[in-house]
Amino acid sequence: MTARSDLPPWPDTAPAHGGAVLRRPRTADAEMARELATDPYVPLIGTLPAHASSDEAIAWVERQRARYDDGAGFSFTIVERATGAAVGSCGLWLRELADGRASIGYSLVPSARGRGLATDALLALTAFAWTVPALHRVELRIEPGNTGSLAVAERAGYVREGVLRSHEEIGGRRVDMVILAVVRPSGPGPGHARHRTRSDPYPG
Ligand SMILES: CC(C)(COP(=O)(O)OP(=O)(O)OC[C@H]1O[C@@H](n2cnc3c(N)ncnc32)[C@H](O)[C@@H]1OP(=O)(O)O)[C@@H](O)C(=O)NCCC(=O)NCCS
Repeated sequence: MTARSDLPPWPDTAPAHGGAVLRRPRTADAEMARELATDPYVPLIGTLPAHASSDEAIAWVERQRARYDDGAGFSFTIVERATGAAVGSCGLWLRELADGRASIGYSLVPSARGRGLATDALLALTAFAWTVPALHRVELRIEPGNTGSLAVAERAGYVREGVLRSHEEIGGRRVDMVILAVVRPSGPGPGHARHRTRSDPYPG
């Protein structure tokens, strides 16, 4: 269990890669959350109610804002660099920080898919993870049938390690999860260059 006092500070410069910038959630992100809630899968893997009302979407954004104070980790809104529009959500979860491990989750609104923004967001978030000295391993758990998400993970350099059988319940079904991970790069090289972040106009 991680307490807020154990978490690293919010980054001074918003994590960014390619077309995606990650910033702290704002109440105005509720509109983005309402679109996210139209996706049939997103409500099954988090606390956003399906077809969320305006109040439900605002409450979800507030929960994302509270994740850091709860010691859970960093919940970021994904912003499209070109337009400044909020297009999704991702989180670096640090409950296992004391053991050197983190996990990541991400979702894009349907209208922002197919442009590489989830891959860019995952690259930005992974680079941010390596700024946390205690972290050595970042994990993703993805359903075997979620080919879009598996493609995002592999494009961002995550390596499949196996299948966690009957790992959890999603939407009333007991499901297997593919586990993928990256481990801290050991020195300068192509991996470092690919994960480098850029400065940007959306401070975290
Ligand atoms: C999983 C999810 C984030 C993937 O979104 P996505 O838009 O497919 O992923 P990316 O942003 O990386 O975009 C990749 C697509 O953009 C295309 N693309 C266009 N320009 C690109 C670029 N510059 N770089 C990379 N890909 C690009 C790719 O070809 C790919 O399209 P394809 O699948 O038709 O080949 C999205 O489907 C989602 O939010 N799903 C619901 C929630 C979910 O499953 N979350 C993950 C839980 S584990």
